[in-house]
Amino acid sequence: MKDVHELQVRRLNFILELLLEKAKELSDIKRDQPLEWSIMHMYSCSQLAKLLAIKRGLDPEIAGIAGAIHDLAIIETGIFKDHGPNGVNLVRNFLQNYNKKFGDNYGLIFDDEIELIVKATIHHSDKKQYSDDKFVELVKDVDSFDRYLHGKETYGFYVDRTNRVLKDLNYPLL
Ligand SMILES: [Fe+2]
Repeated sequence: MKDVHELQVRRLNFILELLLEKAKELSDIKRDQPLEWSIMHMYSCSQLAKLLAIKRGLDPEIAGIAGAIHDLAIIETGIFKDHGPNGVNLVRNFLQNYNKKFGDNYGLIFDDEIELIVKATIHHSDKKQYSDDKFVELVKDVDSFDRYLHGKETYGFYVDRTNRVLKDLNYPLL
């Protein structure tokens, strides 16, 4: 083989393992959304976030982690309402815990990276608002596009955000 390429996603891959382990321990009753959906959305957002990050010149691994973890509050509590802001401490604690237990083996997630992920988590539900923060906007766009790909009804600002992704990928718009 002439060329070998390896995307640097060791931290992300281990975080996905940890998130899946966590989800497996939870019950599927009394949740606003089925746990199965949350798990599916976690993986597909993570992949799409990497794809879009590469296109937009952002760090694909950190984008992939944000894509995977942005709905952690729903996974942990089962509650949809205010899950962005409510996820702040959960996400920060999860990542700091990862650093303490596994950072030496799989690589540390640095403080500035943690803050990017936390910020994207807080704001990801404000889909109608557009900011200059490329990372926050990426997670909002990916979240909207993933819903669309999973066959959810897509309207208003979700259409706009889905189109932002389709445009970046040079696909026909909705
Ligand atoms: Fe969400």
